[in-house]
Amino acid sequence: MANNTRRDFLKHTALGTAALLVYPTSRVLGANDRVRVGMIGVGNRGQDLLHEALSIPSVQIVAIADVYRRRHDEAKKLVPGLTVFDDHRRLLDMKDLDAVIVASPLHTHTRHFLDTLNSGKDLYAEKTMTWSIPEAEQCMTAARGSGRVVQIGLQWESSGALADARNWVKTGLLGKVTQVESWMSRNTPHGKGQWVRPVPSDCTPQNVNWSAFLNGRPERLFDPYRLINWRLFWEFSGGNVTENMVHQIAWIMTVLDLPLPSAAFMSGGVFSEKDGREVPDTIAVTLEFPEDLVVTWQSTFSNRHYGLGERILGSDGTIEHGWGQSDMVNGEDQESIHYYPEPVNHPQEAAMNGKSKDQDHMANWIDCIRSRKTPNAPVEIGYRSAIACHMANLAYRHKQRVTLLEAKSMGPEF
Ligand SMILES: NC(=O)c1ccc[n+]([C@@H]2O[C@H](COP(=O)([O-])OP(=O)(O)OC[C@H]3O[C@@H](n4cnc5c(N)ncnc54)[C@H](O)[C@@H]3O)[C@@H](O)[C@H]2O)c1
Repeated sequence: MANNTRRDFLKHTALGTAALLVYPTSRVLGANDRVRVGMIGVGNRGQDLLHEALSIPSVQIVAIADVYRRRHDEAKKLVPGLTVFDDHRRLLDMKDLDAVIVASPLHTHTRHFLDTLNSGKDLYAEKTMTWSIPEAEQCMTAARGSGRVVQIGLQWESSGALADARNWVKTGLLGKVTQVESWMSRNTPHGKGQWVRPVPSDCTPQNVNWSAFLNGRPERLFDPYRLINWRLFWEFSGGNVTENMVHQIAWIMTVLDLPLPSAAFMSGGVFSEKDGREVPDTIAVTLEFPEDLVVTWQSTFSNRHYGLGERILGSDGTIEHGWGQSDMVNGEDQESIHYYPEPVNHPQEAAMNGKSKDQDHMANWIDCIRSRKTPNAPVEIGYRSAIACHMANLAYRHKQRVTLLEAKSMGPEF
């Protein structure tokens, strides 16, 4: 009886809390209302996302904020009549904005994440969710209590391949999984480093809000190379781990429903093009997880033969997911996902190909803004994948195996 009473009390309290936590969007959206969207950071990825958002009929792009004037003009060409700012706070002051897409450099993600939620707007936040572990904790806490719809730009979370893989794992086709191998490989012409972008001639102090870009980083003279090529420097970036491993580790974590890693190790260096970059181009990461699992991720910028992929190795079967088995006719990379049984433990099972269709990640976010449901890549997977990345980078920077506890107390470094 006492237990029942307690359970009832908890049930009512939970319902009461839930009722309190269901915030409306800043406007109540009618069925025919378009979702009014703003964007912070409209560079390379931002302009891709702008195209994606513009292709959804129920979306209206209203305003953008970018520290570089050139981006204002580029965005206005795509969306005539757009309001533009060089300070994201002015965009967030707009009362008639429902939601914001953030595609700024990594070291500014947390500020844009927290400021957007504080302004009461829903958020699409590009990966990696944050630049550091303490920032990931901050963003996770803020999002959980906000009632806002937060989608992380981990678009593989909306993929058909993920749905297929989860299904195979759930139905017990893999047995005990003790190891996952993953890799990502690219190449560039000799002398041209991966990611290096030319600096446009209009990238001058007059056209850039430099202090907003620095975002609290130590003062330094205007440096257009760093503005355009922020990815190459620890101060602003987490290198290829936060650029690409994050997609794959999030995918693996979701497929296998993994908690945070218990330890990480990472070796490598700047081996491909010694062009002044700080972040390594050649990487081998080992992530240990509780309950007998090791995940490895390797990456090179000097050879793209094996494309990118993951192999989930179980005692009863294997999942192989990848791009890069180039089509022999058109030379294009194909995505594929397969299940292969282990004859020694699963002799009756047949091999299978994945069949599920991808969902549109941006459309999923917009649908959730209307329904107030949780999107496909919620803050929790943003958090777990960010922590895994930062643990790996901390291990590399400190040249040691780093446990979760150690990583949390190490603090960020430039
Ligand atoms: N999901 C994906 O597949 C994917 C792919 C590529 C990039 N990304 C992510 O998108 C983000 C942006 O990458 P990118 O390649 O477009 O970089 P980018 O440098 O091309 O674009 C960043 C833009 O942000 C602007 N900016 C810088 N500081 C700002 C500030 N404080 N306020 C407002 N704007 C600011 C810059 O002027 C620039 O236009 C990164 O986090 C990256 O990891 C995701």
